[in-house]
Amino acid sequence: MRIDRCVCHGVTFEEVKRHCDAHPGCGFEGVTDALGCCQSCTMCEPYIRRTMRTGQVVFHQVITARDEPAIRG
Ligand code: FES
Repeated sequence: MRIDRCVCHGVTFEEVKRHCDAHPGCGFEGVTDALGCCQSCTMCEPYIRRTMRTGQVVFHQVITARDEPAIRG
């Protein structure tokens, strides 16, 4: 299993990482508003949060909000 994007909006976690690298401190809502990801089912939210926290952009297991809770807006 390879999980590397917000499927609903076709935005990769690599794009999320690039945006965060270019806009330090943008916050979760800042990146999702800017890229248009995580606006529908929101199943990608914990992956995006982990990308923002660790820089990881490809995942091979399911991550839930319990695994990667929101710590900032
Ligand atoms: S996978 Fe990102 S909103 Fe559905």
